[in-house]
Amino acid sequence: MTKVAVIYGSVREGRLGIKAAKFIVKKLERRNIESTLIDPLEFPLPLLKNKFDYLKENEKTKEMKKLHEIFEKADGFVIVTGEYNHSVPPALKNIVDYFGREYAFKPSAIVSYSMGPFGGVRAMMHWRDILSELGMPSIPTTFPIPEVQNAFDDDGNPKDEKYNERVKKFIDEFDWYIKTFRAGREKGIPN
Ligand SMILES: Cc1cc2nc3c(=O)[nH]c(=O)nc-3n(C[C@H](O)[C@H](O)[C@H](O)COP(=O)(O)O)c2cc1C
Repeated sequence: MTKVAVIYGSVREGRLGIKAAKFIVKKLERRNIESTLIDPLEFPLPLLKNKFDYLKENEKTKEMKKLHEIFEKADGFVIVTGEYNHSVPPALKNIVDYFGREYAFKPSAIVSYSMGPFGGVRAMMHWRDILSELGMPSIPTTFPIPEVQNAFDDDGNPKDEKYNERVKKFIDEFDWYIKTFRAGREKGIPN
């Protein structure tokens, strides 16, 4: 079964993006894509001590080890990003920075959101660079969510039917990249 990690990155009191993360997890699951929500409240990591691979065994926390295992098994990654000062949320970047080879030769997809009208697209563009650098290039279709405070209920059910329609193309494309990259990895990857 296809597995993806959905990485969300806000620990802010009253955080809103968690609703968008729950929405995308449900939609992926409905398409038989096993999705693990990575919530920094459940996987608290210290501000980057070092990359997981560079830490001594006794410095690796159980959360770091669990994330390493989840990321290694994942076929793709969804980044659910807010926008802080036109850039990426620090808790999200902190989780992502801990790892590297776990992401390589796998696709990523970006869901962005904000309380305003632009849906976090400025942070999204930063993520494209970061994700490429990490070897998990992002798919062309993105999923920006403006006025996230009005978009979903607390369980991540959309209040507007348009989200159910838009997400279909996003997942279709992501699924294609996941399968195509996996077939490529099975044939072998460059050293
Ligand atoms: C420090 C900070 C900076 C922000 N900067 C932006 C911004 O540049 N653009 C924007 O559209 N919203 C900005 N916002 C509003 C966020 O889009 C909104 O608070 C959003 O809900 C944050 O995601 P979260 O609720 O998941 O933490 C900012 C919020 C905070 C706390």
